[in-house]
Amino acid sequence: MSRAAEAAAQTDFVPKAAEIAREAGARLREYFLQGVETEYKGDVDLVTVADRTVERLIRSRLGEAFPEHGVYGEEGTRERLDGEYRWYVDPLDGTTNFAHGFPQFAVSMGLEHRPRGTKPDGDGTLVAGVIYDPMRDEIFTAERGRGTQVNGISAKVSRTANLAEALLATGFPSRKRHSSPNIHFYHEFTLRSHGVRRAGSAALDIAYVACGRMDGFWEFNLNPWDTAAGILLVEEAGGRVTDLRGRQCQLASDEILASNGLIHEELIGFFADIFAGRNLAPIPTPEEYARQRAHRQGVGNRE
Ligand code: IPD
Ligand code: CA
Ligand code: CA
Repeated sequence: MSRAAEAAAQTDFVPKAAEIAREAGARLREYFLQGVETEYKGDVDLVTVADRTVERLIRSRLGEAFPEHGVYGEEGTRERLDGEYRWYVDPLDGTTNFAHGFPQFAVSMGLEHRPRGTKPDGDGTLVAGVIYDPMRDEIFTAERGRGTQVNGISAKVSRTANLAEALLATGFPSRKRHSSPNIHFYHEFTLRSHGVRRAGSAALDIAYVACGRMDGFWEFNLNPWDTAAGILLVEEAGGRVTDLRGRQCQLASDEILASNGLIHEELIGFFADIFAGRNLAPIPTPEEYARQRAHRQGVGNRE
């Protein structure tokens, strides 16, 4: 760890952040159980009163607890961004699930230390992360240098050593879906692993890599409020986080690959193959599949 990172690690942000995330999560749970109206931010990008109210709640609680800290939230909060510390807040990760009554969503809060002199577009060091799943009452926490915990109990990444035995997760954007290539990667990795889950909350997907429930996760086009807490959770649990080519993951990166570390190089190799169109497994077109099906049914009728 660099000296700046060590200095930043001499902190104790998690207890307060966990308290705030629990309060925020309790509010989400109430909204979820009572049902809320849904609005559209774009064509298919949903937002609810819960996203906005809970972001306001977190902003105000962080302001009381850490008045010098900046806050950068998905629903528009941009406060004290010139501060030495900055929280990245997703008040409700998994809004589409939430709006449909599917109980997989979380509050995510990650803290970056940005020592004086950090370039405006440069990253500092992630020093604390909290992800709270209010439906399971599970809190995933990490402070740099102090490991990762789930509900206060130490957590580690899995020991799965090869992709063929791995369980993976990914997600798809709600905006600009047509420009995402991820369906190709989803297909190829489904064939090469025990399966790829798409559960609709990137924060929980990454938290699950940190505690060994998943072996790897990737996604295109996430934002720092989705990933800041999770990156630290995975690193502190002994895993690895990069972009899809194995380069250091920047908060502003539009690609993320998080894994238990053991399968990381193998995953990067397959990403390179798939980007280059090498060794791809053909998918039958709907017309080909219809012909094969008609043939099978014809054969079945004659038997
Ligand atoms: C979304 C979720 C989803 C991921 C999307 C995100 P939101 O966040 O994390 O799993 O696939 O890319 O935008 O909009 O529910 O906060
Ligand atoms: Ca999100
Ligand atoms: Ca959100």
